[in-house]
Amino acid sequence: MRNYFIAGNWKMHKTTGEAVELAKALVEDLKDGKNKYMIAPPFTALDAVSKVVKGTNVMLGAQNMSTEEQGAHTGEVSVLMLKDLGVQIVILGHSERRHIYKEDDAMINKKVRLALKHGLEVDLCIGELLEEREAGKAEAVCERQLREGLAGVTAEEMKLVTIAYEPVWAIGTGKTATPDDAETIHYYCRSVLADMYGKEVADSVVIQYGGSMKAENAKALLEKPDIDGGLIGGASLKVETFSPIAKFNS
Ligand code: 13P
Repeated sequence: MRNYFIAGNWKMHKTTGEAVELAKALVEDLKDGKNKYMIAPPFTALDAVSKVVKGTNVMLGAQNMSTEEQGAHTGEVSVLMLKDLGVQIVILGHSERRHIYKEDDAMINKKVRLALKHGLEVDLCIGELLEEREAGKAEAVCERQLREGLAGVTAEEMKLVTIAYEPVWAIGTGKTATPDDAETIHYYCRSVLADMYGKEVADSVVIQYGGSMKAENAKALLEKPDIDGGLIGGASLKVETFSPIAKFNS
């Protein structure tokens, strides 16, 4: 059976002091939580937050990484640097990386394979734009992002991969996909994974939903059979808003 995986993507929020304070409060609040948890602070706070979450049930995530291991890449952060800080999982292909910073599927795939080569877990984000949904292309876009993002990834490596379905029109907008609409895409993604890797692997991959997930809508989404967790932005920035989602089933 798949375990629920509730993750916070802090995006470009929190100074180091603020990040440590939030991480400490979450570690305390979630210590008896029964789900898998991750927080992804900005790069600048990773070192400090790493010391707070070490040895707890809250994993340390990064929000991005370079396609390269090292070299002349001003402003980039490598997988080796993340591992050195105790990072266990990296979010890749987030829609803000795809659409603001123009990362394409080939680039994201290079990052996915590099992270896996170094034993880092990957949280691969996929999701369609509003105009793609309105044109009836949501499934096709997600399928392309899955197939190209995971190209060359083996069935064995899929044990380290989580998928996050984040419809772009739902991110930070307050508009959440309905549980039925989200489930339709999650189910479809699992069928694509079954085609790529077989049913056993597809059934074991955690597929999170992301996009204006809050305490008020989390339970209805997470009760759907193919929605196995959440990747939460805005509501992950405070204990009062993140914990109720993280503990929705306790
Ligand atoms: P919001 O929860 O703020 O909509 O953000 C979702 C997201 O992008 C998480 O990665």
